[in-house]
Amino acid sequence: MFTFTGLANLAADPRGGIAVREIAEWLEKLGMSEYAKCFAENRIDFSVLPELTDQHLKDLGLPLGDRLKMLRAIRELSSPVSPPPPQPEQRSQDTAERRQVTVMFSDLVGSTALSTRMDPEDLREVISAYQKCVAETVQRFGGFVAKYMGDGVLVYFGYPQAHENDAERAVRAGLEMTMAVTNLKTHAALQTRVGIATGLVVVGDLIGSGASQEQAIVGETPNLAARLQGIAEPNSVVIAESTRKLVGNLFELEDLVAKTLKGVEGPVRAWAAQRPSSVESRFEALHASGVTELVGREEELELLLRRWSKAKSGQGQVVLLSGEPGIGKSRLTAALLEQVAAEPHTRLRNFCSPQHTDSSLYPTIGQIERAAGFRQDDTSEAKLDKLDRLLAQSSTSPHDAALLVEMLSLPSDGRYPVLELTPQQRRQKTLEALVVQVAALARQNPVLMIFEDAHWADPTSLELFGRIVDKIPSLCALLIVTYRPEFDPPWIGRPDVTALTLNRLGEREVVAMIDRVSGNKALPESIRQNINDEGGIGSCCRGRRRAIHRCHSAIRNRCSSKPARFVNGAARPARPRQGDGTDRGGDWAGVLAYTFDSGRA
Ligand SMILES: Nc1ncnc2c1ncn2[C@@H]1O[C@H](COP(=O)(O)OP(=O)(O)O)[C@@H](O)[C@H]1O
Ligand SMILES: [Mg+2]
Repeated sequence: MFTFTGLANLAADPRGGIAVREIAEWLEKLGMSEYAKCFAENRIDFSVLPELTDQHLKDLGLPLGDRLKMLRAIRELSSPVSPPPPQPEQRSQDTAERRQVTVMFSDLVGSTALSTRMDPEDLREVISAYQKCVAETVQRFGGFVAKYMGDGVLVYFGYPQAHENDAERAVRAGLEMTMAVTNLKTHAALQTRVGIATGLVVVGDLIGSGASQEQAIVGETPNLAARLQGIAEPNSVVIAESTRKLVGNLFELEDLVAKTLKGVEGPVRAWAAQRPSSVESRFEALHASGVTELVGREEELELLLRRWSKAKSGQGQVVLLSGEPGIGKSRLTAALLEQVAAEPHTRLRNFCSPQHTDSSLYPTIGQIERAAGFRQDDTSEAKLDKLDRLLAQSSTSPHDAALLVEMLSLPSDGRYPVLELTPQQRRQKTLEALVVQVAALARQNPVLMIFEDAHWADPTSLELFGRIVDKIPSLCALLIVTYRPEFDPPWIGRPDVTALTLNRLGEREVVAMIDRVSGNKALPESIRQNINDEGGIGSCCRGRRRAIHRCHSAIRNRCSSKPARFVNGAARPARPRQGDGTDRGGDWAGVLAYTFDSGRA
């Protein structure tokens, strides 16, 4: 168990790359500032401090008295941290809680070397630019900077504000950060290393209040994140297995050989996150290890198939599919795609993302990039060639192609006409061009268009889909819009628009689901009853975590030899909190599948 207080620096710097300044401060506190230079020259940092012997200090030229004082101070530093005497108001139940948190450690590479060749003022500027860059990136992704430690930064994702995709946010932030730090214009070229791990921690004001208050966390996770940071190559992001499980295949990962890490039991699997993956969709990426077989939803699927038949006959249709998070909207949509897989048709899948609610036409840009087959390492020219091939299939005019090239932020290489348009005209013409694309495709083959998670749509996408809804009655096309109840689609009530709300599954289906995901392991009746009492899959959203955890633990204890896993914080033994920003209260199928699915565990 790692207590994240006084020993923080030991964990933050397993490579000895930082803490020059902190060592100097520590020496100052001991009244031994005169040795700061000697310690820096000999690259003594907090990670090697506990190993210093009397002989080492003698070799460094310290007199006996100072050696003894220093050895005592080192012993005190390394001894377990004893918490301050409990003070009721400080240790109140309200300030510390168990949470699933993704912890990130970032560290500036080579700061010891920088400190020896740089003027202290310049060094301070460099470190402050670095910290500012890290903080800005982290905040953009919804993370929380908990502490600056020398030139390291400790960050939490999932506390104090929880999001359903904190692990993904952390990895994205890490990748951006390594780039942003490299691009910083300072006195020296900078690089960073990032370590990320996810786990249950106790978090909150554990230490004190007022000026000394720290958002400290206790648990193995921060230690692991720090150690992973220590094995990361410069400019790379290393993630723990626990984080990898939550991000699925959303990133291209390099499997690092299992490592033995100081302070962590057993060999540890670690992964270097390289870039966001170009996997076709968020849904597939997160469910790549096998979608659970569809349970129930026969009527809903039948309705979708009927609308599809109508659409194919030339009476275009829209289905508005709403429901709580985790209730099965994406699963049902995937079931329709499976059913029609053998028929000739064109799929256009548009996925909104919680991180891109202000990014104009983000879902459409992603759809076109995937359809064209863009790869991360393609040159602009290669991308334009691919785009040309895609647009040829819908006989796109050069004028429209020029608009789409701009929409994709590709530099035109002279193969498209130059458009003299005001920004407003450009926007309108781009939306028109996109509707023309759908219409052109629908003339060749029926189009099955999906607009996933419209509650996260940017305003321009909403306008685009409004235009598509207007146009659809005359097309061979079915548009399915999925969204959560908080979104109010403006298209309800039209003759070609069907609203379908997914409700909780019935008892029979819940039982079937339990059987499938638990591999028919015998579940005690009391547990089945417990799950049913809680309302089954999808019913446990918002404020029912305690119940989820109860059932989950019971299932885990009775049926699985595998350790418990938690999905995105959905099931965790935390006290339920009001208004913590978590919008994914629980996801039965996910929790169960995660626990039992051998592909994942
Ligand atoms: N009817 C169902 N049959 C099988 N698995 C389901 C069903 N409904 C949901 N799931 C599973 O539950 C999890 C959450 O469902 P998902 O479709 O992603 O929810 P939503 O899109 O509504 O947020 C997924 O793992 C999904 O495969
Ligand atoms: Mg979904």
